[in-house]
Amino acid sequence: MKHIAFIMDGNGRWADKHGKTRQFGHEQGSSNVYDIFLSCIELDINTATFFAMSSENMDRPKEETEFISILLNNSIKKHLPDLLDNQVKFSVIGDISHLPENIKKTIEHAETVTSKFTNYKLNIAYNYGGQWDVINSVSVLLNKKLTISYENLSKHLSTGNDFPDLIVRTGGYKRLSNFMLWQAAYSELIFLDVLWPEFSKKDISNVIDNYKSIKRKFGKVD
Ligand code: IPE
Ligand code: IPE
Ligand code: MG
Repeated sequence: MKHIAFIMDGNGRWADKHGKTRQFGHEQGSSNVYDIFLSCIELDINTATFFAMSSENMDRPKEETEFISILLNNSIKKHLPDLLDNQVKFSVIGDISHLPENIKKTIEHAETVTSKFTNYKLNIAYNYGGQWDVINSVSVLLNKKLTISYENLSKHLSTGNDFPDLIVRTGGYKRLSNFMLWQAAYSELIFLDVLWPEFSKKDISNVIDNYKSIKRKFGKVD
């Protein structure tokens, strides 16, 4: 497997279960991201995408969305030295235009200084929607007067042609919630009851074993 993606759901319910605030749940969830990314690398997966915030999540109370944007800022700053050591290309996918200048700067700096790396890729989907991604790509094609073809549309998505082989959703619900609608056409989907802050290294290796047992057919016959 080349590319794994995570829909990190369940921070709020995890916090509830432990009698803590939703913010505390997001803090725990956020601190799990880099550990899981390192586990992916250990398991020989070179690209991981983490869904941190959907377009629709932006309608949550301002304190919550602001808190999540600060967590994003802090965790990029914290892990940038390690991203550079491990030669990881870092990207945020989604519409970050509304973010405060300091956070945009943190993101753009991390993207720029890691842009030449090809070994590994870490994408964070923030204010990301699959519908936004497709509309965005089509707009680029129209502006550049390019043909609306499968190849061109795929190439101009926020992920480019790099589609996830596997999408794992924690938190018990079996839905995509507007994540990678185009890219997920042939992704394998694994839904787990475990809540994101408690998703562990053991869970990821179980998920990979499960993935390896699936026969992918892409519409063809054996
Ligand atoms: C996922 O956790 C993180 C985001 C969507 C930002 P939730 O905040 O959705 O957690 P639950 O679903 O309420 O448990
Ligand atoms: C999906 O979780 C988005 C992320 C994990 C970032 P939600 O909690 O927003 O999904 P719904 O509302 O239950 O579909
Ligand atoms: Mg949720």
